[in-house]
Parts: sequence; C-alpha cells; structure tokens
Amino acid sequence: MSPARNSPKLPGIAATELAPAQVLIPEQPTLPGLKAAAAGCQACDLYKTGTQTVFGEGAGHARVMFVGEQPGDREDIEGKPFVGPAGRLLDEALRAAGIDRTQVYITNAVKHFKWKPQGKRRLHQKPNAAEIGACRPWLDAEIAVVKPHILVCLGATAAQALLGRDFRVSVQRGQFIERPGLPLMMATVHPSSILRAPDDESRDLEMQAFVADLRRLAQRLER
Ligand code: URA
Ligand code: SF4
Repeated sequence: MSPARNSPKLPGIAATELAPAQVLIPEQPTLPGLKAAAAGCQACDLYKTGTQTVFGEGAGHARVMFVGEQPGDREDIEGKPFVGPAGRLLDEALRAAGIDRTQVYITNAVKHFKWKPQGKRRLHQKPNAAEIGACRPWLDAEIAVVKPHILVCLGATAAQALLGRDFRVSVQRGQFIERPGLPLMMATVHPSSILRAPDDESRDLEMQAFVADLRRLAQRLER
C-alpha cells in the first residue's frame, strides 16, 4: 500500500479529489447516459462556478458535429449549448447555408461556463489547456457515439483542441482536413467573433464568410 494510503485520516477540511472525467464514462455509452454522467463531473474547478454541466445536444447519428468553446451565460442558465446570442447567430447562418439544426449535433470543448464577475455581469473567460484537457473525455465520447462524418470546429479554442496548437483559423478556415481514422474536419470562426465585429459593414462581411464556409460544408454533406 502506498504511504499516502497508510497515513491516518487527519481532522479538518478534506482534500478534494478531482475525479478525471474518464472514470465517469459508462462502459457502453449512449448520449443520454453520457449526459447524465457528465452532470456529476468535477474533473476540473469549473464545476464550482458554473451552474450546471452543459452537455452537447442534437441528432444521435448526426452527420455533422459542431464543437464550440464553452457554454456562455445563457447556456449556463438553460443547460443547453448555443441558445444565447451566439446560438441565434449560428441558427441564422445554418439557415442561410441550408443546414437543418435539428439534423446536426452541437457541443463544446469545455462543458462548464468559465467567467469572472464584472459588476453585475458574468464576463466570459477563455478556458485554459488544463480545463480543455480535463473535459476532453466527454468530447471524445460524444464523437465515438455520434460518429459524425464531419467535425466542425467553431473558433480557435475548438480548432486548437482538435487540430493542434499550430492550427490558425484565420489561415485555414473552411478547408477540409483529412486525418486517418478521424472524421473529416473543418474549422471556421466562432459565431461570437461575428457578434464582436466593430461595425455593421464588417459584421455583414464576416457573416457572409461564415455562411460561405457552412455552404461548403453543406455541399460536402450532399456527396
Ligand atoms: N459559445 C460557445 O462556444 N458555446 C456555446 O454553447 C455558447 C456560446
Ligand atoms: Fe468536468 Fe468539463 Fe465541467 Fe471541468 S468543465 S468539471 S471537466 S464537465
């Protein structure tokens, strides 16, 4: 037995054991089973400040899976991915590209909302590599169960999580990337980046480019 196991239990506040997400994954995972298991995840500190785990949602055998960064303020409250302002913009772009949202699966690289207070608002914070890594087993399990033909990364966080740290969305957006044993992959911008455009004109241009990426995706899905 390890020395730590032998040591007497000392009084006071017990150390938190952060269970890695992997141990929570059911042996024969289904989407409902994964969602139920992820609700109890404490594999990183974000469970302490997020209201709930926001698991992916959508068609069980969707041919395309979208991966965002992490839930935002609205998603944290409602418990569903992409239901706030970024989700509305995504819906609009999917419609424009002729993709039915009910036929796709939508999830995030990190499943708890990371934020810091700013006055009465909760300001979004980028998840770090440790948090993305801690949450990765959930994403891998979703991919294994849904088996999408195409995996679309929305923004740099998802792209770097799935395509590597050197991946540059600005350079490689809209390109299909084939890797052995993996679904076809593509990265594009995050819908929130379009919401942050400084003026209407640049917002329109960025929206057009986003819809163009999604149209290429729609064409590829028709093959
Ligand atoms: N941004 C994301 O990356 N995901 C969401 O679910 C909402 C906003
Ligand atoms: Fe678990 Fe992911 Fe939430 Fe961290 S962010 S507690 S890994 S579900």
